[in-house]
Amino acid sequence: PLVKDLFGLTDLEERIRSHYGLRQVVIVPGDSDVSPHTKKELGRAGASVLRKLVREDEVIAVTGGSTLAEVAYHLTAANPMKGCWFVPARGGLGESVELQANTIASTMAKKAGARYRLLHVPDHLGEEAYQSLMQDDHISEIVQFIRKARMVMHGIGDAMVMARRRKVDSETTESLQRDGALAEAFGYYFDREGRILHKMPTIGLRMEDIQRMDTVIGIAGGKSKGEAIVSVLKHGHEDVLITDEAAAQYIVQRL
Ligand code: BG6
Repeated sequence: PLVKDLFGLTDLEERIRSHYGLRQVVIVPGDSDVSPHTKKELGRAGASVLRKLVREDEVIAVTGGSTLAEVAYHLTAANPMKGCWFVPARGGLGESVELQANTIASTMAKKAGARYRLLHVPDHLGEEAYQSLMQDDHISEIVQFIRKARMVMHGIGDAMVMARRRKVDSETTESLQRDGALAEAFGYYFDREGRILHKMPTIGLRMEDIQRMDTVIGIAGGKSKGEAIVSVLKHGHEDVLITDEAAAQYIVQRL
């Protein structure tokens, strides 16, 4: 708290919190874009928020990404987590193995002394593949299980950075660019006003499931993600935001 007040971070937290009507905002000092230390602190802050908010026997959905990987790294066992289940929020989104939601969910469960269930579906599902997967008993059962989650923790990315990282086809990328896509979270792409432009074809949580949740925790930092974070905040499903000073400075300029 002392170091936070020195940087005026408590004040920033409150301004962002009240403007967007969030339950909690946590800001760590620095800029994750340039400082690996800040990114680690972001992960540590994420792990501590998770430990505090989690309730017994809860299903916790998580996305992939390097920020969530830091959260997983910093997670430690806490009593209420023992009976919890970690699950991926959505199926294959074209991430490398280390950054996949399945990997993050299983790492978190091991660290927290909790349990996990995974969702194995191929990336870039076509309509037919989607329909036949949903008819598979095992898959539809795990999807129902994931939809029981009352809490989700997700990363937020810059739309074009994420499209490239996931090798989204050039046609889709061009249309995203044309329509002004700025942000990406759990496979959904958003414009400046927080409107959904595109949804990656996979299974798992849908936006209506996310909207219904008790606790949606967004975690992302770095000056380069400022714009993306604003557009996700404008979409309006967040309850808790964990970010860093550089992104927070950008966010308050846009209040
Ligand atoms: C993806 C998540 O895996 O990671 C997205 O599905 C998120 O929600 C992205 O936008 C962010 O990744 P990173 O590496 O910037 O934390």
